[in-house]
Amino acid sequence: MTTFEGDIRDPGLARDGVARIAWAAREMPVMRSIRERFAKERPLAGIRVAACLHVTSETANLMLALRDGGADIRLCASNPLSTQDEVAAALAVEYGIPTYAIKGESNETYHSHIDAAISHGPQMTMDDGADVVALLHRSRRDLLAGVVGGTEETTTGVIRLKALHAQGQLAYPIVAVNEANTKHFFDNRYGTGQSTLDGIIRATNILIAGKHLVVCGYGWCGKGVAMRARGLGAQVIVTEVDPLRALEAVMDGFRVMPIVEAAATGDIFVTVTGDVNVIDRPSFAVMKSGAVLANSGHFDAEINLKALAELSEAKRTLRTYVEEYTLGDGRAIVVLAEGRLVNLGAAEGHPASVMDMSFANQALCAEYIATHHASLAPGVYDVPRDIDDDIARLKLAAMGVHIDTLTAEQERYLNSWELGTA
Ligand code: ADE
Repeated sequence: MTTFEGDIRDPGLARDGVARIAWAAREMPVMRSIRERFAKERPLAGIRVAACLHVTSETANLMLALRDGGADIRLCASNPLSTQDEVAAALAVEYGIPTYAIKGESNETYHSHIDAAISHGPQMTMDDGADVVALLHRSRRDLLAGVVGGTEETTTGVIRLKALHAQGQLAYPIVAVNEANTKHFFDNRYGTGQSTLDGIIRATNILIAGKHLVVCGYGWCGKGVAMRARGLGAQVIVTEVDPLRALEAVMDGFRVMPIVEAAATGDIFVTVTGDVNVIDRPSFAVMKSGAVLANSGHFDAEINLKALAELSEAKRTLRTYVEEYTLGDGRAIVVLAEGRLVNLGAAEGHPASVMDMSFANQALCAEYIATHHASLAPGVYDVPRDIDDDIARLKLAAMGVHIDTLTAEQERYLNSWELGTA
């Protein structure tokens, strides 16, 4: 009888999980060096951490670094569909980290798993989407006094935290890991770019070349998706609400137009806006039969699935993560991964090499909170610049890339105003 703490699909998957975690670790040299240092220095000794993250092999490597740093962690999923069951099993059974995550869990189970992750009265929270912070501030205010700080992984979570803080409600300091350059330049752009196309392709096996692919949102994630879709031969259309980003998309060589116009042209749609009902009734009304809709934004709110269901006469599953809605006029609209993050639902999320930097930020910011919380008022903080720069340096070194340093003359030049037109 295997004993472990947590709620996972099957403890028998643990051995596979161990292998997957080791495979990811090969591409995570920065995390490896942090883990080795944490094991010696124990900067998180005894700190109770509630982590709500996508339970993947990359996250497992972060959890192991925190555990070796002395943290007492409970981990739950940050999305009902993103869990890798083998990894959850390995964490709970082989590595002794209480883990509450099952791929495909109901919304009710999802929330009960977050309850379980905070049941040890966390001193630190580590969120991807701010669901733990929301729970603590909404219905577990009794636990707030014990929390000294937290971290937040993603754009959507940072937006929620800033809204909470703007209302004067945020009870403790949180470092916005997403704002680090070594996070969003790489994870949001190259990570989302590759993993989103990976999710669409794994789910459908459709050819991207020659398709009209509509990217809704041209933030870092949208830029990545558009870039990679173009690389695969798609004719990419971008939709935006922000004039600056729209202009960037135009000058990056993409067609830019309102969503209802794009809706009539697109074969494949990807939402990455972080907003709600981006693809809605007016778009469904003009879409081509067979249009494929996918979301890579944090929440499953970007495609109005409730409206789509109301407009539909039938719905059937064509393949795993591929559902076809048949509208009253006979047109078919295909939705991938239930409108949840397609890159984590139908594929494995971002590759380990980018998560190496994202999670190095998480680990180092957890250490920063542990050592600096007493001097931090409640609020949303950027990642300290030296942490961001160190991670870039370590990643370059691990990749065997060398760069130049300023000469003394160049340093002087950059620090002076005297030298101008000769
Ligand atoms: N977010 C996006 N990709 C991820 C991954 N591979 N692991 C954890 N969180 C992620």
